[in-house]
Amino acid sequence: MARKPAYIVHTPEEIVRIRRAAQAAAQVRIELPDMVRPGMSTKMIDEIAESLIAGTGGKSAFLGYNGYPGQICISVNDEVVHGIGRPDRIVQTGDVISLDIGVEIDGGIGDNATTFVVGEEATGEVKKLLECTETALMAGLAQAVAGNYVKDISMAVEKVAKAARFGVVREYVGHGCGIKLHEPPEVPNFVSVYRGPQLVPGMVLAVEPMFNLGTHKVFTESDMWTVRTADGNVSAHFEHMVLVTDNEPEILTWLKK
Ligand code: MF3
Ligand code: CO
Repeated sequence: MARKPAYIVHTPEEIVRIRRAAQAAAQVRIELPDMVRPGMSTKMIDEIAESLIAGTGGKSAFLGYNGYPGQICISVNDEVVHGIGRPDRIVQTGDVISLDIGVEIDGGIGDNATTFVVGEEATGEVKKLLECTETALMAGLAQAVAGNYVKDISMAVEKVAKAARFGVVREYVGHGCGIKLHEPPEVPNFVSVYRGPQLVPGMVLAVEPMFNLGTHKVFTESDMWTVRTADGNVSAHFEHMVLVTDNEPEILTWLKK
């Protein structure tokens, strides 16, 4: 049997398509949070996402993936990732909402995520958690340089979490991305014996730290998708796709217009 490659190098033609899908995913990631209001169900948020995604000319990259039933992932408070929109799940002022959005257009895939507080400004330890997770993501992306290893990204992300004493989720990791939603290699948010491949131009990585206010431990709910923290504390998730180039990393899900 053919061995799975350790990583994928995308052609310039593929990168054109990936760039477009990533920009579409970025547009939805930026527009959707402003449309989320207290009193809405997570199912309504999923439906709004469906129409925003359609407006980009693309379709959901998550719907049907391993049987996933939603358009996007909507994870509230102690939900870490993979929350499914539900008509009976009403979001309230102060809820911490993560939106994970994948868009497919013309064979390219964009994947990105953000976390925010509904209806008010984040304060206190939640504010710190959100800022820290996003700072760690940016620190990781800065390491997506040719000649570095995947481990350099992991190390930069973990360092930010450790300084703030937040729990780093271990069961779910970043990944190669672009033509398929999940491509090799894995991109962990913590350091281990895994060094991963050396980075070369044309690699596209989705870096996605998930940090918890409390324990790093998580479990999967009976719906077989929703991942929650073991101790019920709040979790945050931020994600961007980055292209390794001959020069600076290009954050593909950074909205250009
Ligand atoms: N950004 C997430 C990931 O890369 C979203 C996957 S959700 C799924 O794992 F529904 F598509 F599985
Ligand atoms: Co992802």
